[in-house]
Amino acid sequence: PASEPTDLVVFGGTGDLSMRKLLPSLHLLDRDGHLDAGTRVVAVSRDGLTDADLRDKAAAAVRSHHEVDDNDGLNSFLDRLSHVTVDVGGDPRGWEDLARALVPGRDRVFHLAVPPMLSGSICRGLRDAGLVAPGARVVLEKPLGRDLVSAREVNAEVAEIFPESATYRIDHYLGKETVQNLLVLRFANVFLEPLWNSRWIDHVQITAAETVGVGGRRGYYDSAGAMRDMVQNHLLQLLCLTAMEPPSSYDRDAVRNEKLKVLQALAPLTGDRVDTDTVRGQYGPGTVGGEEVVGYLDEAGGPSTGDTETFVALRAEVANWRWAGVPFYLRTGKRMAHTRSEIVVRFREVPHTIFPGADGRPGAGELVIRLQPDEGIHLTMSAKEPGAGAPRLRPVPLRLSFADTFPNRSPEAYERLLADVLAGDPTLFVRRDEVEEAWRWVDPVIEAWTDRNTPPEIYPSGSAGPAGAHRLLGRNGRTWYEQE
Ligand code: BG6
Repeated sequence: PASEPTDLVVFGGTGDLSMRKLLPSLHLLDRDGHLDAGTRVVAVSRDGLTDADLRDKAAAAVRSHHEVDDNDGLNSFLDRLSHVTVDVGGDPRGWEDLARALVPGRDRVFHLAVPPMLSGSICRGLRDAGLVAPGARVVLEKPLGRDLVSAREVNAEVAEIFPESATYRIDHYLGKETVQNLLVLRFANVFLEPLWNSRWIDHVQITAAETVGVGGRRGYYDSAGAMRDMVQNHLLQLLCLTAMEPPSSYDRDAVRNEKLKVLQALAPLTGDRVDTDTVRGQYGPGTVGGEEVVGYLDEAGGPSTGDTETFVALRAEVANWRWAGVPFYLRTGKRMAHTRSEIVVRFREVPHTIFPGADGRPGAGELVIRLQPDEGIHLTMSAKEPGAGAPRLRPVPLRLSFADTFPNRSPEAYERLLADVLAGDPTLFVRRDEVEEAWRWVDPVIEAWTDRNTPPEIYPSGSAGPAGAHRLLGRNGRTWYEQE
């Protein structure tokens, strides 16, 4: 059903995120009938665009995101858009223009698609201009801050104006269908939960690998690195959903309370553990998908201090009753051989094998939850190869492909999340305490790398990452899951 008529105000409304994700997703929501006829999108920037300029830019952005047919209502979507120039912290007339662009009495959502240090001034600007009507919501993008101190500052500044219940922190991984499916897989089936603990699980791997480099985002990336860009948010959220206890309901706080407990249970990665249990890498030149590409240091948009990591692998431990002793290996990298996000749960071997000397790994099964691409679930089990004589065992997969099972188009992460913001449902958004707890765990690792000047290990573009990542598992006789 369509949401209430809302004025959705996007700060950074002509920027990269807006053009690549927000406006195309809003067009899809509109096309599929999920926007109220009265909902309008006000893009705010310093660019001084006219409404017509904005609509041209938005039309191009939508078309480069997905195919648009004549009857996809692009023009009626564009009619919802307008542009207001506001120089946050500058000329106050911009705020007056914004006030005039909003319709009194409507729901209001302020989406801050801007660097986090601007959040405080924008929220104060909105308040001072009298725009924070009752029920107004604010949407914050990641990374929220660059460490615990700055994250607390941003959260506190926003909290002066918007209550937590009206604050929607985006981690777009939570909007992915397959990520939500993880909860259904775990908590709507009986067969996994009894095995879901250190008794039966040897370790868990969580990978988010990409073939792309940093592209035009070198400036941002230099100040962030893969730890802040991917691990602090996306990978830790996946870890939470994998490791959390069953919540009592699918309720915003029931789910988020359980995720928070996982973050609180993460054993600190400090002291020598930073050397032994973390790996940072940076892509050098190489070949990706048959194309020669430059290394990180030669990407346009420097200057760089040169030591930004584009790859992280680490071994985390959830120190609680269920998971004590089970490593959670996390890995993310740019310019890797394949684009692939997946969670791999490797089970222990059977306690006793009656097939000694058989080839293969008797009993050690594997559950692979592929988040993208080719979304699906693979369960690897041991089977007997046909033939006479002593049984020969072979791992064989049971495969579930979401695309084959559910042929209808799945909404993209931002579509789902924007629809939830418009409907006022924060379940798939990150709560303040979660973000801060994640920083509390990540900070000491980044500090140790900085203090020790740990240089990133260079890996060729198009490879499986630095050798250190393989040693991280190899020393316990384990290997990363690398199957197609
Ligand atoms: C973003 C990161 O949050 O996630 C990017 O800033 C990364 O660096 C992107 O490329 C990956 O998202 P997805 O949905 O393509 O896996």
